[in-house]
Amino acid sequence: MLFRGWEAAVDGPWPDVATVVDGVGGTHLVVTRHALVRQVLADPVTWRPDNALDAVTPIPVAALRVLTGHRFRLPPTLANNAGPSHPEIRAIVAEALHPDRVAAQRPWLTALVRTRVAGIAAELAAGRPVDLHARLAADLPLLALARLVELPDAPVGAVKDFARAALELFWAPLDADRQQALAAEVGRFHAVLREFAGAGGGLAARLRDAGHSPDVVVGALFFLLVAGQETTSQFLTLLLHRLTGEPEVRAGLRAGTIAVADVVEEGLRLEPPIVTWRRVAATDTTLGGTPVPAGSSTLLWLARAGRDPEVVAEPAGFRPGQRGSRRHLAFGAGAHRCVGAQLARLEAAVVVAEAAPLLDAVTVVRPPWCPDNLTFRMPDAFLVRRAHPTRPT
Ligand code: HEM
Repeated sequence: MLFRGWEAAVDGPWPDVATVVDGVGGTHLVVTRHALVRQVLADPVTWRPDNALDAVTPIPVAALRVLTGHRFRLPPTLANNAGPSHPEIRAIVAEALHPDRVAAQRPWLTALVRTRVAGIAAELAAGRPVDLHARLAADLPLLALARLVELPDAPVGAVKDFARAALELFWAPLDADRQQALAAEVGRFHAVLREFAGAGGGLAARLRDAGHSPDVVVGALFFLLVAGQETTSQFLTLLLHRLTGEPEVRAGLRAGTIAVADVVEEGLRLEPPIVTWRRVAATDTTLGGTPVPAGSSTLLWLARAGRDPEVVAEPAGFRPGQRGSRRHLAFGAGAHRCVGAQLARLEAAVVVAEAAPLLDAVTVVRPPWCPDNLTFRMPDAFLVRRAHPTRPT
């Protein structure tokens, strides 16, 4: 259940707080109610973020050796940083992702997506199947990020492989052989980041100039390259897939009675790419009346919190604009709330606005498949075909 949380999220009742053994080395206090998840996120003193990036399957010595061979280190930087350096590092990253800079990407992104949608429409009309993940989701967020943050000069495919390897290495149930292969992939790219961190401009230079160590610069770039693009890629695919099954929502978009922004928020509530997120109890405490010993790994079930009947009247229905829709916790909350939320929203809004009409006349050939993972959905290909292909005359 823990490793396929998005499936369990739609089924029956679940206790507010429950202790669950993950089967690969850990025990977690799983928190499902919106109010309790929020309470934890809002109190970084009692619930520290230190374990946010810990490997769920403990990494064995052989794989650790591979990582240290590449001088891999992941010091507290952003998501796992409860220390005094966090606000300063966060402020520098937030400046690079300032809402004005993000909004300025809209014309470029719209033109790019429009061109791609036209190409897809032509292929669909010719009766060919199209992978919407590959064409509209996989690389767009990385291309957008690269316009806002100077990144190492690496092929898109290499960054995607590295990011997905990192999400698997740190959040999936794994055997030792797979861990070793993933460690090699993650380690190799980490070495590229380390070199760039020492000489790169933009964000890397600003962090260096503010006196942060090379480890911190690498840590920030590492997290951004994973969290700042892979999450949005996943969300775009999940949302497009969801919308293929929501004809009334598409009709509302067409008629202008449903706002794109509301579709994006309802998508984040129902199909968050980050299903769970972790905190650790700093002291002996209680949560929802349950005693919690210090050191407990606390698994915040963000996807379930979005479906809490205390928050929305129709928890399972895709009802853009319904009261409470925007109260989802897909971006977390509090001191560590996602700093890229505006960018993710812009990307999703552009893709929905431009691509939703494509979905009116397609059938799903193959829905996206998601591998076992504690936290990330990681959908793969999403193949569609035109329902009634136009015959060549
Ligand atoms: C749909 C896409 C995205 C989702 C669902 C998402 C979700 C999250 C979540 C759940 C957290 C942890 C929040 C917490 O601990 O309270 C987080 C943190 C973060 N996200 Fe995102 N994110 C997305 C896209 C992005 C993008 C596009 C960027 C940047 C380009 C980004 C950068 C970050 C950073 C830097 C943090 C750490 C913030 C801190 O610790 O201060 N994310 N995100």
